[in-house]
Amino acid sequence: MKVFTAISELKEFLKSGRISAVREGKELQIGLVPTMGYLHEGHASLLRRARTENDLVVLSIFVNPIQFGPNEDLDRYPRDAERDLALAEHEGVDAVFMPSVEEMYPQPTKTKVAVAELTSKLCGATRPGHFDGVTTVVSKLFNIVAPNRAYFGQKDAQQVAVVAQMVKDLNFDIEIVPCPIVRENDGLALSSRNVYLSVGEHESALILSRSLKQLEADVYSGQATTVMEARQQLMQKIGSEPLAEIDYVEIAAFPGLTALQETNSLSSELKAHGAILVAVAVKFGTTRLIDNVLLTGKGEAIHV
Ligand code: PAJ
Repeated sequence: MKVFTAISELKEFLKSGRISAVREGKELQIGLVPTMGYLHEGHASLLRRARTENDLVVLSIFVNPIQFGPNEDLDRYPRDAERDLALAEHEGVDAVFMPSVEEMYPQPTKTKVAVAELTSKLCGATRPGHFDGVTTVVSKLFNIVAPNRAYFGQKDAQQVAVVAQMVKDLNFDIEIVPCPIVRENDGLALSSRNVYLSVGEHESALILSRSLKQLEADVYSGQATTVMEARQQLMQKIGSEPLAEIDYVEIAAFPGLTALQETNSLSSELKAHGAILVAVAVKFGTTRLIDNVLLTGKGEAIHV
């Protein structure tokens, strides 16, 4: 496994890989897994998927300062390069890219990539500028690595929608591969930020996966809950946890994130839109967690 901190050296490595492949009459398939490190099973699942679909797997580890707001956790974001490299090696990664902030953003930087509309909702509403930071760094990584495929977790469903839109709008010739949410045995969605949680907060945070799972089961079993009722029920369940401070509970079409008809049943809206995202962001103590469930047409058969 090779580790790069310089953009030029990574590009040189990928270029020689591409040239050797062409000499053998093949096209090198490159899979990119962008992360901010402090890797866990969620990240590992993306690496494994990338490993099965590509000749070469590139993992990027970069805590991207421009996607953090002024009062967010940039300074205390957990880091453990040694452990990350061991995990990457174990998952068969070929190249790790871990640049410094100066390498990625030599000053002055004057360009950013911004996706409109999709980014003003859900997490975008409470984290202004966050997605501009994400799309800017992801497009830089796409230009540096020029992968055939890039792997993103559905844990950050809005990020998947925003990046997919950017790829379409800017003609990146890259397939965005969304991967399922990986959870702890108790249901908590894995996140690098889970280390901030106290035992009590962790226990309290289980309300997120439990209430989302319940809602999913209700919809698939044919309950005629309206969009408005479903949101209220979620708000109420999550709000009943004393440690939970709700940022948002949103139900929207996916991947367009457009609003639904509030008085229609969720199942009829599901039929109309094909996929519906139920997403929550909730603070437990100082830690803001997100979780979601993507309702898909697979429940449809039950309703006809
Ligand atoms: P980070 O939070 O490190 O996540 C890297 C990737 O791992 C993202 O695609 C995220 O959705 C995925 N991931 C995280 N937890 C997961 C889980 N429990 N199950 C499945 N996938 C999971 O997301 C970012 O970094 C950054 O915004 C980045 C895209 C790297 C840009 O800076």
